[in-house]
Amino acid sequence: MKLSTKHLLGIKHLTTEDIQLILSTATQFKEVLQRPVKKVPSLRDITIVNLFYENSTRTRMSFELAERRLSADVLNFAASSSSAAKGETLLDTVNNILSMKVDLVVMRHSASGAPHFLAKHIPAAIVNAGDGINEHPTQALLDAFSMQEKLGQLAGLKVAIIGDIMHSRVAMSNMYLLQKMGAEVMVAGPPTLIPKYISEAFGVKVEYNLKKALQWCDVANVLRIQLERQNQPLFSSLREYSLAYGINRRLLDSLGKEIVIMHPGPINRGVELDSDVADGSSSIILNQVENGVAVRMAVLYLIANREN
Ligand code: CP
Repeated sequence: MKLSTKHLLGIKHLTTEDIQLILSTATQFKEVLQRPVKKVPSLRDITIVNLFYENSTRTRMSFELAERRLSADVLNFAASSSSAAKGETLLDTVNNILSMKVDLVVMRHSASGAPHFLAKHIPAAIVNAGDGINEHPTQALLDAFSMQEKLGQLAGLKVAIIGDIMHSRVAMSNMYLLQKMGAEVMVAGPPTLIPKYISEAFGVKVEYNLKKALQWCDVANVLRIQLERQNQPLFSSLREYSLAYGINRRLLDSLGKEIVIMHPGPINRGVELDSDVADGSSSIILNQVENGVAVRMAVLYLIANREN
C-alpha cells in the first residue's frame, strides 16, 4: 500500500487509510527498534535534509535518529547558524541544498504554511515537522500510536486536549487525527486560550473547568503554555494559570478513576503539570518520545517509497 499524498504537510490532508498505514508501519519499525541491531537498509539510497528554522529537541533528534535507523544520508540545517541569518530566503536556501542531490526535506518553521509554500515551488517531497500554529502531523501520529499502544484502540476513546489550544499546532493535528479515527475530543482550558469558533469548526466539546474535563476523559493530552507566541497577556500570571489549570497528584487522586497523562514536551514543570504527575505512573510522556522514532521511520519510509 502507498500513501495518498506526496508530502506530509498536515493530518488535514491524510485519509483514514493513510493514518492506519502509517500506524501499522510504525508497529513494524518499533519491532526493529527492539532488536540488538536497530538499523535497516530501507532508505540507503536517499538523502534527507532536516531544515529547522525554529528550536527543537525531540522532533529534530527523533527525525535524525529515524533517518539513520533507515540508513539514509542525513544533512542537518539550523537557521541560526546558517546563511539564513545573513538574509538568504527560504526558497534560495532550499534550492541550494537540493542542488546537492537531496531527495527529501523535513522542515520546521515558525511561519504557519511555510511547508505548503515550499511544496508549491520545489520538486522534493516535504515532511512538516511543525509550522507555526498550524500543524505538527508527526506529533499527532506518535500521540495516536502511543494511545493505541496503551489503551488498545482510538475509536471511542475520550481525549481531552488541555491548555493553550489557541497557539497549538499539536492540538490542531490531534483534533484532525483523533476525529478521523473515531475518538471523541474535548478541548479544555481558560476561555482566552480557546478559539471561539472551535466547537463549530471542529465538532469538539469545549470545557473551561479542568476537573470536569479530567472526569470526562480517558486520556489528557496536556499542552505547554506558549508564551513566545502570545503578543499580549491572555491570563493574569503563570501562578494563577497553574492554580486553575495545573494538574497535580491530589487532583488526579480525587477523580476516582485512572486516566492517561500525555504531553508533547517541553514541559513547564509546576505550570501545566506537577513533577509527580509528569513522572508518575499515569504518565506515558517518555513512551511518546520513544514511539516518535518508529512513527517517523514509518512516515519517511512511506513518503520515500511513494516517490519510487
Ligand atoms: N514535541 C515537540 O515538538 O518538541 P520539540 O519542540 O522539542 O521538537
